[in-house]
Amino acid sequence: MLFKFLKSSDVKTCEITPEKTYMNRRIFMQDSARIGAGAASLAAFGGGLIGASPAMAAGRKLENITRSGRYDTDERQTSYKAVTSYNNFYEFGTGKEDPARYAHRLNVRPWTVKVDGHVDHPGDYDLDDLIRPHALEERIYRMRCVEAWSMVIPWVGIPLSDMIKRLSPTSKAKYIRFETLVDKKQMPGQKRRVIDWPYAEGLRMDEAMNPLTLMAVGLYGETLPNQNGAPLRLVVPWKYGFKGIKSIVRISFVSRKPNTSWQGLAAHEYGFYANVNPAVDHPRWTQANERRIGEFRRRDTLMFNGYGDEVAHMYAGMNLKKYY
Ligand code: MTE
Repeated sequence: MLFKFLKSSDVKTCEITPEKTYMNRRIFMQDSARIGAGAASLAAFGGGLIGASPAMAAGRKLENITRSGRYDTDERQTSYKAVTSYNNFYEFGTGKEDPARYAHRLNVRPWTVKVDGHVDHPGDYDLDDLIRPHALEERIYRMRCVEAWSMVIPWVGIPLSDMIKRLSPTSKAKYIRFETLVDKKQMPGQKRRVIDWPYAEGLRMDEAMNPLTLMAVGLYGETLPNQNGAPLRLVVPWKYGFKGIKSIVRISFVSRKPNTSWQGLAAHEYGFYANVNPAVDHPRWTQANERRIGEFRRRDTLMFNGYGDEVAHMYAGMNLKKYY
């Protein structure tokens, strides 16, 4: 990914180095057992959901997870180690390894989420109060990054639609906007203006209500590691990974299409919709295929990342080359 404000050396770190170097790295070779590495840096997300001490060093087991299997892929899951050590989270730096290295500085407990805009129940919610009324589900999703690599991740979360129904938006709410925490002390990457912080993302209301859209609090049956967006992140598996905003502190119901961080920086490269589409190349590279982390041979990228049955109807009649 490219930001206007990055030096060329950073661009290299962000988008060229990974392609060339991950082949050499052991984590991408051993796609097998989960190794609890990175765990020392995982802060806990605690309280009512899991009922143990928030100060534990590792991700903590989430209880009472339901598994319908309805939307799960049976493709091989990416190793926990790769999922938690090869990340994009610019609040902690632009290198893929920066989040795992620095995200332990983020204190995810207590965590308050502001809900505002066109909604019947606005307010400052403790995270537990937002999540606890709903059943946690596991969903094994294919995830496709705009940088043309992909992973398979067993997320744990609640359908965003469940949360939205409870918050009860008014008829004026056409879009939903999300915002990440801003705190330079905890998020050292914010000392540089690579993004006009806060990181912000948005969805059309029907996309937000789609049953595939998750608010994730965990992965691999445990609380989210900080580098993956603890304690609350968005997961939208038919869109490029940058839509999956991490460490959310604000959810706004708005009437107009919200500006997003990536559009603000390079609108011609990163559209609002960001639907995975092998027929629409990024201006600087192909989107027709991808490298699944842990594999050598490139795979063909699937339209809507393979979730067309669930989502294609939302874009019927739209020119997806224009609305990319
Ligand atoms: N959210 C915030 N707040 N900041 C970020 O830099 N990066 C995005 C997205 N969410 C990002 C973010 C990008 S570019 C990707 S590909 C995914 O997070 C990566 O998620 P992962 O590290 O859990 O694989």
